[in-house]
Formats: sequence, structure tokens, C-alpha cells
Amino acid sequence: MPEARVLEVEAPAARVPVTRVETAPATIAVVGLGYVGLPTALALHAAGAPVIGIDVSERRLLAIRSRDVDLPRTDVLRLEGALGDGRLRLSSIPAAVAAADAVIVCVPTPVDEQRRPHPAALRAACANVVAHARAGQTIVLTSTTYVGSTRELLVEPLAERGLRAGEDVFVAFAPERILPGDPTVQQRAVPRVVGGATARCTARTRELLAPTADRIHTVSSLEAAELTKLYENTFRAVNLAFANEMAGVSAHLGIDPVEVVDAAATKPYGFLAHYPGPGVGGHCIPVDPYYLLEPLRGDGVAAPIAEQAMAAIEARPGAVAERALSLLRGRGIAWDEATALVVGMAYKPGVADARESPGLAIAEQLHGAGVDVAYHDPRVAEVRLAGERVLRSVPQPTPAPFDLVVVTALHDGAERAWLDDCEHVLDATYRVRLGRNRHLV
Ligand SMILES: NC(=O)c1ccc[n+]([C@@H]2O[C@H](COP(=O)([O-])OP(=O)(O)OC[C@H]3O[C@@H](n4cnc5c(N)ncnc54)[C@H](O)[C@@H]3O)[C@@H](O)[C@H]2O)c1
Repeated sequence: MPEARVLEVEAPAARVPVTRVETAPATIAVVGLGYVGLPTALALHAAGAPVIGIDVSERRLLAIRSRDVDLPRTDVLRLEGALGDGRLRLSSIPAAVAAADAVIVCVPTPVDEQRRPHPAALRAACANVVAHARAGQTIVLTSTTYVGSTRELLVEPLAERGLRAGEDVFVAFAPERILPGDPTVQQRAVPRVVGGATARCTARTRELLAPTADRIHTVSSLEAAELTKLYENTFRAVNLAFANEMAGVSAHLGIDPVEVVDAAATKPYGFLAHYPGPGVGGHCIPVDPYYLLEPLRGDGVAAPIAEQAMAAIEARPGAVAERALSLLRGRGIAWDEATALVVGMAYKPGVADARESPGLAIAEQLHGAGVDVAYHDPRVAEVRLAGERVLRSVPQPTPAPFDLVVVTALHDGAERAWLDDCEHVLDATYRVRLGRNRHLV
């Protein structure tokens, strides 16, 4: 099949490429419409591309069609427009990738219960893309994954089908750096790293992603792009673990840790502020470093700083719960007679996502110790404790019924004056005003 050469339209940074054969905007398939894939699909649609959004979950597609999605307002408006104009098509049929000129893969890359990479969704999505690939397609992997994934799951199986990267198809890795929950950081304002299987693959991908990013930084290989993402998120994990450690040091010395971080952050070079907290949640920082560490363990390569940081991150919610229990014990309150309110079930302020949430881990540990636990989070209506007991958010908490309030995430703009009247507060966010009976971890 002849290759459809990609031409630029008038404003290459703002519009999608067109194919010369069809002189129409290239159709782009986005595989996986989660926290990353849906905003990506909307950004490409906003740049003029016809987009096929593919997700194996009918439930997710229904939620998208019903506009029941956790997105910033600008993206909700984009979704409204995209669903209305027919240029965004949604499908649960994996083979729909065959109709696209370019395919962007954004499926989840979780870990299993032993914290080992569990890339089953990635393997399935890539196998499907390979099975339906056709000459001329640009295929971009954006999921965070182990070094070597793009070559192993795309480049090599495509070659086995007779589709050579850089000649017949164009394959690249371009890690996503979206920051959910912070409307001040626009997806397109964050530079995009791209590493192709060949220079032509990099160039094609650069052109494809130009409408979604103001700046694109290219690297020399697929593997360099893959390692860039793992380095970034492991860097953050190490620094967050160290921030928690320094918070303990500050507490030991009777010093406010946040005052110290803020002061250190006035240094214009050589310091990057990281703040302590209840633990690290979400889909990225508690997970991604294992995609670096597990293969290294297999190769017998030591990475002790990253290993220790991840161990500290995993232990952090437990340390908060222990502190809560010891505060109750110190006041002579038996755990099985105690009541506690956890404030914040989202993994961080600004999101409705409770995946890997420290608030949930802390609530589970308190519940396991016999404490009667409730929670308040205006963005998370319901959670399941240890896979069993369902808890619903207390809509408007009052201080009265709780022996201890444990603060784990405070959403901007949420009403929190009632916290001032709570008698005993354990503040794991380091954001509550200090005072009598205000405890840090
Ligand atoms: N969420 C973030 O903040 C963030 C930021 C940067 C990078 N990432 C990375 O991006 C990737 C996607 O993360 P996410 O948070 O969007 O995940 P998500 O869980 O929110 O969404 C993934 C979607 O993919 C769908 N899916 C799973 N298998 C599929 C398949 N075989 N074919 C089609 N659809 C499939 C799921 O149904 C789900 O809707 C991960 O590798 C993650 O590490 C996430």
C-alpha cells in the first residue's frame, strides 16, 4: 500500500496534519479513554482531527457519553462540543484502530498486589494495534512502562507482520505528563518528550502531537523516552519520601516543616520544593517506579535510593494511622470505643480519584484497629473499606461526634471553617493552622 505522505497545514503547531492522498485531516485513534486518553482525544479533536476514541469498557464509554467524567471545566466544554459535532466517535471495538491514520495508546499500566508491573492491558492493546496495523500508520505509545516495551510490543511484532518501523509504519514512545487536578497546568503547556524507532518515526510523531503541546523535545531512541518518564516519576517519589523524612526531623526538633521548605525554596537554584503529606496516591508515583525497579532487580542491578524511597512511600499511610492510634491511646480512649473522621479520600486535592489513596489506607487501618471511622470528601461520594464495608462521605461534618479528625487531603475552595472547631486534629497535609491539639505526623 503506498504511504500517505504527511503535509503540514498553515499553522502546524495548532492543526493536525493532513494526508495528501485524502487531503483531509488525518483520523486519529486514541486507545484507552481514561485520565490521559480522554483529554488527549479532546485536544486532538479541538485541533481539527477526526478522532476515534476506543475503550474496552462500555461503562467508561457510557460515562463519557453521559458527560459523567472527572475533567477540568475546559475539557468538559470540549467534550460537550465533540460529542455534538460527530468528529469524535466512541467505540468499544478494538479493531476500530484499523480505520485510523495514527494510533495513540494510553491504557493503564498498574502493579499487582506484590507491587510488580502488571502490563496486561498494555500487552493486549499493543497486540490489537499490531494485528490491525496498516502501512502508513503512525503508532505512538504514551502509557508509562518499562524500558524496552515499545520495541518489544510494537516494533518487533510489526516487523514480523512485514511492517518495518521507519519504512512502512512510524512508531514512537511519547510519555504523557498530564497533571490531573491542577487547572493551572494546561496539558499543552507541558513540553512533550518524543523518541522514535527511527528519525522518521520521531518526525512523524512530532507532527502528530504538535497540536497538543507547545513544545516537543525529541530524544534519540524509544528507550531514552521510556527511561525519561520513569526517571521523572522516580525522582518525585524519592523527593516526596525525603520530604516526609525531613518532616519527621523537623517535628523532632520542634520546627514547622513547611516553614523550612518554603524558606529553602527561596533559593533560586539547586532546590526543588517538595512538601510532606499523608502518603503518595494515584496511578503514577506509587506505581511507576516499579516499572524501573522490577527489571533492574531481574538484572541484578542495585538502585537502593529508589528502592528505599518506595518502601518509605508504601509505609507512610501506616505511619499516619499509627500516629492517630497513639494519639487516641495517649488520651486514654480505647480504639474500639473511638470515633475518627478522615478528611480527604481523594489521593490528592483537586481530583475525585481515590486510587492508591492514602486517606483510604489510613481509614482501613483505623477501621482494622476497631475505630469507628467516617470520612468527608466533597469529591468522593463513596468508598469500600478493605474491599468490604461501604462508607459514604459525611456531607457536612460537625466536630462534635469525633474523638479525632485526621486530615489527609483538602480540596481548594471546599468549606473547612468547621475544622477550626474540632478539638483534636491530626494534620497529615501540613496545611491546617497550627494550634492547641493540632498534631503533625
Ligand atoms: N493519570 C495520570 O495522571 C497520568 C499521568 C501521566 C501518565 N499516565 C500514564 O498513562 C497511562 C494511562 O493512565 P490513565 O490514568 O489514563 O488510566 P485510566 O485507568 O484512567 O484509563 C485507562 C483506560 O484504558 C481502558 N483500557 C484498558 N485496557 C484497554 C485496551 N486493551 N484497549 C482499550 N482500552 C483499554 C480502560 O477501560 C480505561 O478507561 C498509564 O500508563 C499511566 O501511568 C497517567
